[in-house]
Amino acid sequence: MIVEWIRHRLTPAPRDLRDMGYLRELIAIDARRRRHRRAWAPHLRATQGMILDCAARLDRWERVVVVGAAQTADIPLDLLALLFRRVVLVDMMFLPKVRLAAMRMAPVVLEPCDVTGVVEAVRTLPRGAPVPNPHPAIPEIAKADLVISCNVLSQLPLLPCRWLERRHGLAPASLESFRQRLIADHLRVLSAAPCPVCLITDTERQSVVAGQPVEAVDLLHGVEPNVEGDAWWWAIAPRPEEAWTHDVRHRVIAGWLRGFSAPESLDTTADLGADLGPERRAEDGRSHGGG
Ligand SMILES: C[S@@+](CC[C@H](N)C(=O)[O-])C[C@H]1O[C@@H](n2cnc3c(N)ncnc32)[C@H](O)[C@@H]1O
Repeated sequence: MIVEWIRHRLTPAPRDLRDMGYLRELIAIDARRRRHRRAWAPHLRATQGMILDCAARLDRWERVVVVGAAQTADIPLDLLALLFRRVVLVDMMFLPKVRLAAMRMAPVVLEPCDVTGVVEAVRTLPRGAPVPNPHPAIPEIAKADLVISCNVLSQLPLLPCRWLERRHGLAPASLESFRQRLIADHLRVLSAAPCPVCLITDTERQSVVAGQPVEAVDLLHGVEPNVEGDAWWWAIAPRPEEAWTHDVRHRVIAGWLRGFSAPESLDTTADLGADLGPERRAEDGRSHGGG
């Protein structure tokens, strides 16, 4: 914890992303991955394997775009840099070690970017104003031969919703459409890509006691990607990481994105400001870093 705090203080980062908690998250995920090196290894290997499998099936290797690249722990960056002429890594921000790695690999380009197009509007939202509408976009997608969305989908609503709850006092249930919209919008942008899309995402969080699930949370809030490929469990928080009483595991699906379905109630054209309904039980899963 102290080491994480010191890293947070010393790591250079844009003020707005620091305020929103993006730097804290990156550092927390990195620390958790180190603590659970062994438990996370199968998930990291399976993610890398799926990315390589998808890349190997292409017939052009000019440009690959990787969304949610972060620290590239689950991305076979060296091999992608050998295979493609241009490797575009997209994330809200990058830590110095990834910046250094990118400098050493000529094809690798960093694109710090908010793929939901809503984070800045949320951060600067005046009190009492309606929840802003997302404007999702992915850099260089129009020219890509392969797009990879890598363990980022379930994370898109977390920090914007946390900000709206804490700074604007909004009830978690009132943000359910906003969560669904951010997730569905990302899938809509991916589905419109002019090239194959590899989606890797966690979909469900389970608390497990003696190998049996005792609680489950839908991490995609009713939005269901149709993915042709593989699925596995990610032992994200073996006890006592989150609790002494149970382990936490996430279901991960990975492969070619073939479409998606969203809850019928979700109107992706509606103004979200009109959408603050009565309180229901709805909440985000935890972030991958545990926050
Ligand atoms: C669990 S991490 C992905 C793991 C990553 N592939 C790795 O190896 O470290 C989720 C990433 O999603 C990124 N992210 C969250 N919201 C985002 C947004 N709106 N636009 C772009 N990236 C976002 C976070 O910054 C974080 O790096």
